[in-house]
Amino acid sequence: MSVEHRFESVAALTEAAARHIVALARASIAARGRFTLALSGGSTPKPLFRLLATEYAHSINWAAVHVFWSDERCVPPTSADSNYKLAHDLLLAHVALPPEQIHRLSGEDDPTQAAEDYGQVLRMIFGGPPRFDLILLGMGDDGHTASLFPGTSALTVADRWVVANYVEKASMWRLTFTYPTLYAAREIMVLIAGADKQPIYDHVRTDAQPPYPIQQVRVDDGELGWWVAF
Ligand code: 6PG
Repeated sequence: MSVEHRFESVAALTEAAARHIVALARASIAARGRFTLALSGGSTPKPLFRLLATEYAHSINWAAVHVFWSDERCVPPTSADSNYKLAHDLLLAHVALPPEQIHRLSGEDDPTQAAEDYGQVLRMIFGGPPRFDLILLGMGDDGHTASLFPGTSALTVADRWVVANYVEKASMWRLTFTYPTLYAAREIMVLIAGADKQPIYDHVRTDAQPPYPIQQVRVDDGELGWWVAF
């Protein structure tokens, strides 16, 4: 099921998204004893991370949370380009999340090996195909999401949960969830903010041609939420 949550401002979007994540965490922990959360990168989630680390830091039982990433740049965890570093500095360093429950993609390693290693982590944590309680995604100005960029090989991978993907446009290797991992989630929140994104969003929501990678995102058994403020 695809649902739009539209807000008048980024602040309103951020507040509502934080409250929703708190509610999802509480429900997941009550139902299954844990909350499996995959974070996105980029700039859009920054205010959300800050809010979760401050106003809502004590609203979630972080001891029952496992954090993952839906994609990562192939850079060291100390790099300013690292999605891990972004989340660590704004959120993870400020909440009582056990370090062993922070599952970082090893961007410093060989990309193919890092993807295989992460696939083993997912198999260990989920006991099989990963079904995340929540995956956060963003949308780029070319309609990419996670690191599923137009014209890249990861778009056609159906037999692995996470892959290495060379992104010509960025002249770099990335690690990304594949579509099957997204399809299997209980819920996906796509966070989109800024007037510059509205034309791309309209293209996506009207399923216009040519299809952008994010248009192939779906949730087979759960909610695909478009959380937007322009
Ligand atoms: C990344 C992200 C990427 C991001 C979009 C939107 O690693 O960069 O995972 O998919 O969500 O590019 O980025 P902004 O939020 O900065 O617009």
